[in-house]
Amino acid sequence: MTTVSEAVARRSSIRAFLPDPVPTPLLAGILRRAARAPSGGNLQPWHVWLLNGPAMARFRAMMAPRIAEGITDPPEYAVYPERLGEPYRSRRFAVGEAMYALLGIPREDRAARRRWFARNWDFFGAPAAAFVFVDRGMGPPQWSDLGGYLQTVMLLAVEAGLATCPQEAWYLHHRAVRRFLGAPQELMLFCGVAIGHPDPDAAVNRLHSDRAPEAEWLRVVED
Ligand SMILES: Cc1cc2nc3c(=O)[nH]c(=O)nc-3n(C[C@H](O)[C@H](O)[C@H](O)COP(=O)(O)O)c2cc1C
Repeated sequence: MTTVSEAVARRSSIRAFLPDPVPTPLLAGILRRAARAPSGGNLQPWHVWLLNGPAMARFRAMMAPRIAEGITDPPEYAVYPERLGEPYRSRRFAVGEAMYALLGIPREDRAARRRWFARNWDFFGAPAAAFVFVDRGMGPPQWSDLGGYLQTVMLLAVEAGLATCPQEAWYLHHRAVRRFLGAPQELMLFCGVAIGHPDPDAAVNRLHSDRAPEAEWLRVVED
């Protein structure tokens, strides 16, 4: 049995999946059990769509021409603050460079980096995915509740022998996603989560993202 500590340590964002299918009841069970995540006032502000099986094939067919033609939707929220100050800027840069180093894509090759980024919109090859929406009326506390829900999904996926990648990249295709899923206008797309079995041979899956030393962010007040 996987302990919580093991699941926390083993989870990482996986960016190359095997096409092997994952049964819908297993995935639906993970998404259902993750709703034990806490939320302020027990609002449970997450709205979740699971995409799997033939629907995933139809979704990919819908996305393919958009990706090929470089079509995107005007974003509904900013993924990062406009001026990302330190230390966040450096952290973001470091994880990006570590990933592109594993992929062998240099900084100058912008086209290759763009092509790689577009793999987000194929869920990095994953056979299944979840989309998480939030009511437009909700504020930062409820958005943070979505984070708790997402992490619970990702830890339960580890326990089930699966891997995940949370994907804000879908903010550039929110209209297409909404249309396909039939999600109502009052919900805003927060992110997708690619789910499946990791490709053990893919170099990008060896990425082990840094964490800042705790002296940078933890203060203990004891006496
Ligand atoms: C809400 C959220 C959205 C994210 N969106 C993306 C994304 O669109 N594409 C991607 O490759 N990684 C995405 N990530 C993964 C982060 O880059 C990753 O969590 C971070 O670099 C730490 O690495 P780790 O998850 O492997 O520990 C996202 C993570 C979170 C929590």
